[in-house]
Amino acid sequence: MSHSAPRPLRAAAPAAPLAGRLGVPGDKSISHRALMFGALAVGTTEISGLLEGEDVLRTAAAMRALGAEVTQTGPGSWRVAGRGVGGLVEPADVLDMGNSGTAARLLLGLLSGHPIFAVMTGDASLRRRPMKRVTDPLSATGATFWTREGGRLPLAVRGAADPLPIDYVLPVASAQVKSACLLAGLCAPGTTRVVEPEPTRDHTENMLRHFGATVSVTDTPDGRVVTLEGQPELVAAPVVVPGDPSSAAFPIVAALLVPGSRVVIENVGLNPLRTGLIATLREMGAALRIENERIAGGEPVGDIVAEYTELSGVTVPPRRAPSMIDEYPVLAVAAAAARGVTRMQGLAELRVKESDRLAATAALLAANGVQAMIEGDDLVVQGTGGAIPGGGVVETHMDHRIAMSALVMGLAARSPVAVDDAAFIDTSFPGFATLMNGLAGGAPIGPA
Ligand code: S3P
Repeated sequence: MSHSAPRPLRAAAPAAPLAGRLGVPGDKSISHRALMFGALAVGTTEISGLLEGEDVLRTAAAMRALGAEVTQTGPGSWRVAGRGVGGLVEPADVLDMGNSGTAARLLLGLLSGHPIFAVMTGDASLRRRPMKRVTDPLSATGATFWTREGGRLPLAVRGAADPLPIDYVLPVASAQVKSACLLAGLCAPGTTRVVEPEPTRDHTENMLRHFGATVSVTDTPDGRVVTLEGQPELVAAPVVVPGDPSSAAFPIVAALLVPGSRVVIENVGLNPLRTGLIATLREMGAALRIENERIAGGEPVGDIVAEYTELSGVTVPPRRAPSMIDEYPVLAVAAAAARGVTRMQGLAELRVKESDRLAATAALLAANGVQAMIEGDDLVVQGTGGAIPGGGVVETHMDHRIAMSALVMGLAARSPVAVDDAAFIDTSFPGFATLMNGLAGGAPIGPA
């Protein structure tokens, strides 16, 4: 997103508890993938519930630039006329992926398998983020990359004319790196194989199967082994995008923290590789119920009922990190309200998100009178037992989740919490403030 004037925002305790039913925008991970797979399939893919946030709109624009026809047919409804595996064309201009690491990294996988030249850039946040984690394994396809110092964007890529399949053991638990390798493998003959030390979100594997590819997943002592048979014919298939659990996290934590609240968030994706936050909040004592569980569009979904609860601190093991990697900032806000200490272990990956989220989360807490410490890769939060002082101004560092976490804290703190710039919330959760204000029956979130 082009970063125009910063949009400061401030949240104060609402006059009444949060109450009501709401839906959150479509899942970001699934939305990016639906557009990409639609572009690679033969035929027309109809998508409903697509997240129309800045990040996903960047993917839509990139797929158009690569030759697919991508059209919006209604709110959240999109149609993609695909070009078939290997059928993307050279883009006439630079691909600007804005704030989105997922869009950039998955697309690099696709580009690697096509004999075309492309240049990719992003906003100041994305240009700071590591791309070597994908360009290293993707080079094994025969693609060539030219990057800035440290493997950063902007970069140029010449995809392989005769791509080779990748066999790669992931050095970090990253669904983006896994997905980039699998997407490159679509254009290569033979079997692409990726081994992940800890299971990460499997939306790529699920959607590949949904479009007709052969994917196998086997748990071994060395980790989860994912294989893809190359050069499949992907056939267009409808995609129903569930509500994003990573967005639902904000109204869930707000309802748990504002006394007297009861909120129902409908149609939330409950893929077990995404539900670490729900497990953790339950361990903290949260009154969270799931109703109406069902399968929609090949993914488990349900309605989440969240009610105000006095929470207790817990230790969150490193193994759980991949299933809640984007939820630590808002979990830290819940931990700030809890009684006792919460220790979140193994958060090294947070340092390379839209911001250094480990530092930004610790700073968010400190600015609002909550004691927090970074110990190695752990974040340790001293809970206030429901008495978060607040009163701080939080620097969001171009990071949507830091902005939303700070605003949720403001709803539950004694003094209002401000953020320097809420503009990036639009990357993943357009309408966030309006929706939260709707639950409050007023406007506790407003201009700073
Ligand atoms: C995503 C994977 C995660 C997550 C990101 C979306 C995906 O990143 O943080 O918001 O859609 O694959 P990593 O794979 O880098 O952990």
